[in-house]
Amino acid sequence: MLKPYISHIIFQTISEVVEETGQQAFVIGGFVRDIFLERPSKDIDIVTLGSGIDFARKVAAKLKVKKVSVFKNFGTAMLVYKEWEVEFVGARKESYQRDSRKPIVENGTLEDDQNRRDFTINAMAIDLSKTNFGTLVDPFNGMQAIQDKKIVTPLTPDITFSDDPLRMLRAIRFATQLRFKIDKKTLASLKKQSSRIKIVSQERVVDELNKIIMTEKPSIGFKLLFDTNLLIHIFPEMVKLAGVDKVGSRAHKDNFLHTLEVLDNISKNTDKLWLRWAAILHDIGKPRTKRYNEKVGWTFHSHEVVGSNMVPKIFNKMRLPQNEKMKYVRKLVFLHLRPIILASDIVTDSAVRRLLFEAGDDIEDLMLLAEADITSKNEYKVKKFLNNFKIVRQKLIEIEEKDHVRNWQPPINGEEIIHIFNLTPSKVVGELKDAVKEAILDGEIENNKQEAYLFLVNLAKQKGLSVVNSLLD
Ligand code: CTP
Repeated sequence: MLKPYISHIIFQTISEVVEETGQQAFVIGGFVRDIFLERPSKDIDIVTLGSGIDFARKVAAKLKVKKVSVFKNFGTAMLVYKEWEVEFVGARKESYQRDSRKPIVENGTLEDDQNRRDFTINAMAIDLSKTNFGTLVDPFNGMQAIQDKKIVTPLTPDITFSDDPLRMLRAIRFATQLRFKIDKKTLASLKKQSSRIKIVSQERVVDELNKIIMTEKPSIGFKLLFDTNLLIHIFPEMVKLAGVDKVGSRAHKDNFLHTLEVLDNISKNTDKLWLRWAAILHDIGKPRTKRYNEKVGWTFHSHEVVGSNMVPKIFNKMRLPQNEKMKYVRKLVFLHLRPIILASDIVTDSAVRRLLFEAGDDIEDLMLLAEADITSKNEYKVKKFLNNFKIVRQKLIEIEEKDHVRNWQPPINGEEIIHIFNLTPSKVVGELKDAVKEAILDGEIENNKQEAYLFLVNLAKQKGLSVVNSLLD
C-alpha cells in the first residue's frame, strides 16, 4: 500500500544498496508522516543500521551524484538528487538531534532509534529492504496518533523533552501547523519542564518560533506558548502585553489577545515573515506607556515610538537579523498608527504625501498592517475605517503619480546649504534642510530646485544668513 509513495529511483537505489551490503535502511521521520498527511515532501530522511556516511557514499555512486556533504560530528551525510534532498544517519541509541553538538553513537537498532525520536508521528519508518519493501514499522502507533490528530511522545514525555528541550517548541509548532492537539500527559510534562528551554541555543529557538509564525493561524501556537509558560522564557516582552487593568468600570483591552488577532489577520494577507513580525511587535511599547487619566481613561501615548525603539534590542536578544529586516520592522512599528490617524480625518493631499514620503516602498505593507490592526467589535466603526482606507489608498496612487515622493530626496541637500551660506556643519543646516522638505510635503512650494532655493534664501534671511555662493546662474 505504501509502494506508490516510494517508487522513485532514489528508494530503488537505496534498496539495491541494502541488498548488496546487507546493511538495512528505512525511510523515517517527516517524509513518512507527510505521506499520511497528504503533504508530499522532497526531503527524505534515511536511517540505516551501520554507518550513515558510508551508506550515503554508496547510494551517491549508484545515482551518479558527485557530491556528498558529510557532517562528521553529527554522523550524517546528505546528497541532493534533482529536487530531492536525502539525509542519511546511522541508527543510534541516543537521542536524535539533527543539530546537537554531542558526539553520537551509531550502534543502535531501528527500535532504539525510534525510541529516541520526538513524537510518535515522527517515529514511523518504512522498510526499504527487497523482501519487506514498503512495510511500515510503527511500534508506537504513530498512525493512530495521526488519525486522532495527537502530538504524543514515544517514551515518557519527561525523558523525550529532557533529551532535547527544543522538542517542547516543536510540539507546539506541529500542533499549530497540523491543527493537532498535544496529548494530556505530554502537555503536562511540557508545562513542568518549560524553564529548561533556556538551555537551548537562541538560534534553534528562533527557528522554531519563526515556523510557528509562518503557519496559517499563528495565534494557536502563541496561546499554547503562553499557557505552557514557554513564552515568558523565550519572549517576555510579549507576555507583558497580557492582562487587563481596571479603574472602576474602565478597562483597556487585553493587548496580548489583540496582538494575536492582528497577527492572524495579517497572516491571511501575507507570507512575509517580517511583516508578520511587525504585527507581533506593533504594540510592544504599550506596557511601558500605559497611564490612567481621570478624564480620558487609559492611554498609551507614544507607544509606537517606545515600541520601535525596543525592536533592535528584541531582535538582538533573539538573534534575529540586525540588518535591513530589523529596520523594516522598526519602521513599520513606528508608523503603524499613521494610516489610521489619516483615515479618521479628512484625507488631505499633504498628509498622504507625508506618509508616502516616510513609508517609501513599504507603504503597501504599512497599509496591510494598519488594516489588520482594526479589531474593533463595533461594526459601524470597522466599516468606517475600511472605507476611509480605500480613500487613502486611492489618494496614495494619485499623489505618487503626480509628485513621485515614494523614493524622493529633497531637491537641496545639506552640502549645498553649507556651500550657499558658507556655513560649517551645524544644527542650523539641518533646520533649513528640514524646513525645505516640510514645505514641499505640505504643498506650500512645488517639488523643484528653483522654488526650493527661493524658499530657502528667504527663510535663511530671517535667521540673519545671507547668500555667499548663489545656486542660480
Ligand atoms: N527529530 C527529533 N528531535 C528533534 C529534531 C528532529 O527526534 N529535536 C527527528 C524526528 O524524527 C523528525 C526528524 O528528526 O521527524 C527530522 O527532523 P526535521 O527535519 O527537523 O523535521 P521534520 O519532522 O522532517 O519536519 P519539518 O520538515 O516540518 O521540519
